[in-house]
Amino acid sequence: ESGLVTIDPGFKNTGSTESAITFLDGEKGILRYRGYSIEELAEKSTFLEVSYLLINGELPTAKELENFKSKITHHTLIHEDIKSILDGFPSNAHPMGVLSSLVSSLTAFYPESLDPNRSAEGVNLSILRILAKLPTMAAWAYKNEIGHPVNYPDNRLDYCSNFLKMMFALPTDDYKVDPVVASALDKLLILHADHEQNCSTSTVRLVGSSHASLYASISGGINALWGPLHGGANQAVIEMLEAIQADGGDVKKYMAKAKDKDDPFRLMGFGHRVYKNFDPRAKIIKKAADDVLAKLGINDPILEIAKGLEEVALSDPYFIERKLYPNVDFYSGIIYRAIGIPTSMFTVMFAIGRLPGWIAQWKEMRENGEPIGRPRQIYTGANLRPFVPMEKR
Ligand code: SDX
Repeated sequence: ESGLVTIDPGFKNTGSTESAITFLDGEKGILRYRGYSIEELAEKSTFLEVSYLLINGELPTAKELENFKSKITHHTLIHEDIKSILDGFPSNAHPMGVLSSLVSSLTAFYPESLDPNRSAEGVNLSILRILAKLPTMAAWAYKNEIGHPVNYPDNRLDYCSNFLKMMFALPTDDYKVDPVVASALDKLLILHADHEQNCSTSTVRLVGSSHASLYASISGGINALWGPLHGGANQAVIEMLEAIQADGGDVKKYMAKAKDKDDPFRLMGFGHRVYKNFDPRAKIIKKAADDVLAKLGINDPILEIAKGLEEVALSDPYFIERKLYPNVDFYSGIIYRAIGIPTSMFTVMFAIGRLPGWIAQWKEMRENGEPIGRPRQIYTGANLRPFVPMEKR
């Protein structure tokens, strides 16, 4: 502390804003979107209805929801020139990298997003466009990765069914969406929709605070989410569970590694900056995993390994004193796997779910006229010194 500023690495004890969107209570494991509990919304609502709620602050009437859905449906198509950007990527490009580039490119295609004093109508158009186009771009990133032809959106389908069809349909066969899969996906997206000032949302707010476009801000959020400590954890969890399975399923050995300070291995999908008793989303997703696998008749051994890991961790002093519990990422990958989504696309699924939250937070920050984010520092570098000519170095 230098009298000027207090350094708070990772902002563990710093509030960045006031917000009316999401309420978390880390001690009690409470999560609410605009005052509605995540348990009720996961059970009774749909992802687009929750998106409307987060962005507009109220649950929509039937007419408002119908209007919102039809507007989104009629923006799902992507400019053909963006398809040629996609064609420029090698097929081993990670879908998150492709997605953040394609989203960033939207600013070049839709100048209304560039106008710093953008009208409310221009903002609403940008919001509808990104909500509509992200699933198309995500499915296209996957098709690029596996070298298959892309599928165009099918406006007769609902949001999740349309995404699944764009992901898995092939010109060679008929594709029918399984309603069990579509509804499992819809529930997962609801559970990811917002989470107050997490790393990627804070990034969206910071980028947007310079009055950059919504698309540029969302692209920043996608890149922040990619990290294995944040949204990338769901992919890391499955890779960890597969490694444990390949290693004979010895859960205790990996628990020891997670506790060994000299071993960089961490139990992915465990721990949380805010939740110190349990992550309410993990509880719902764990139950949903059992339901979906039972309905699909799938017996996935890594679900048993995951449950075994949770059991051992919840009775282990190291984890108990550090309040490490399964977080949202611990079980979600098991459902994605069961519905056929490859691990390389898990964090993309997180981005699709978190999009309405990023939008709502960006909109609130701009409507509140919040100042550009520009923190201070404590300087620890060299004092003043004269330039050294090359011959003297
Ligand atoms: C998400 O912020 C959000 O809300 C995020 C998110 C959202 O919806 O946006 O909820 C989504 O990102 C969930 C988190 C996904 N990440 C992971 O599962 C990666 C593994 N988890 C950790 O890296 C960690 O728990 C974090 C990043 C989630 C939280 O880190 P913190 O709050 O900075 O805590 P920390 O790293 O300081 O850890 C505290 C202690 C340390 O031990 P000590 O140095 O005190 O002895 O707990 C240990 C850590 O070593 N620890 C772990 C651990 N997580 C923390 N030890 C083993 N395995 C782990 N997973």
